[in-house]
Amino acid sequence: DKAGHKHFMSKEIFEQPTVLAECLTHYAPGDRVALPEDALDFAQTDRLILVACGTANYACLVAKYWFEQLAGLPCEVDIASEFRYRAPPVSEAATALFVSQSGETADTLAALRYASDKAARIISVVNVPQSSIARESDLALPILAGVEVGVASTKAFMNQLGVLANLAILAARQRGHIDAARETELLATLRAVPGLVNQALALEERIQKQTGKLAEARSVLFLGRGAMFPLALEGALKLKEISYIHAEGYASGELKHGPIALVDKTVPVIVMAPRDALFDKTVSNMQEVLARDGRVWLITDAEGAEIAGDGVWQTLIIPRIEPDLCAHALCRAGTVDRLSYSPAQRHRCGPAPQPGQVGDGGMS
Ligand code: BG6
Repeated sequence: DKAGHKHFMSKEIFEQPTVLAECLTHYAPGDRVALPEDALDFAQTDRLILVACGTANYACLVAKYWFEQLAGLPCEVDIASEFRYRAPPVSEAATALFVSQSGETADTLAALRYASDKAARIISVVNVPQSSIARESDLALPILAGVEVGVASTKAFMNQLGVLANLAILAARQRGHIDAARETELLATLRAVPGLVNQALALEERIQKQTGKLAEARSVLFLGRGAMFPLALEGALKLKEISYIHAEGYASGELKHGPIALVDKTVPVIVMAPRDALFDKTVSNMQEVLARDGRVWLITDAEGAEIAGDGVWQTLIIPRIEPDLCAHALCRAGTVDRLSYSPAQRHRCGPAPQPGQVGDGGMS
């Protein structure tokens, strides 16, 4: 049942505020993260290894910033199909964490099996608690997103981030990087996110108007710094997968090392620039695009648009968010999915997904 939506993907995008709120309440019902602490000893962990495929891999890349910055925990993120064949060394004191919506993706499962007799513990973050990946983990944490029918992950991505944010906060506490007051503050910021995602989704009409122009592009670039960098990768992946428009995501600072050559007035460049510590840096990369007659689509808040909106092609103003690591990425996760869905709706949206369809369970 698509609940009045044209596609399951649209329905699932609009479910994000609700499922995220449920997930956050489950993992932090009060002012402390309530995860099984015995099974999650981040104080003794020397390295966190995060492994996944596709969108789940981008959730891991976002979480790397949180684990490193909040908890000072060294972190590696790997694509499962690379990790499993590379035979990487895994320290006995490492925690290996596998993220998968379906819990059945063959490469992620094989990577888990590779690490299982090497790492201190195997944790998984899954949407299907009865899945193979969940069953073969020491601890499986459900993301509580409900069935995701759309093949391209949307609400599952959001809730993967929700669980990973709670894990990062727990790691920060266990490693002595935050005190109780800071934990309460971080959780309060997180709890505000579903409301902000709601506000971002309310921009639907505006997004649809703007993406009409995007649908004419042959190629699109997404730029971001910090945790916005993996979101740039996710935005590009979604646009390719759903709208069949060629897109690439880059770390803003890498633009000048090659991809700038692609920029001209036919290539929209979507710049994700929240008003955080990296804002000025991202805006300066944006100026490089403008200097080449690039068509910049700036996604920022009202203050960011006021400062940097001159000369850009389009601006999408999304709610202002406390300059806090977790909240920023979560709110924008909802926006990039919505944006990729729009051009597809106008053009081609691929075959309708079958109920119960999950990620690629085959070999890759
Ligand atoms: C891909 C899907 O085939 O599988 C992606 O299109 C998904 O959206 C990826 O992220 C991995 O799937 P899973 O189930 O392991 O998260």
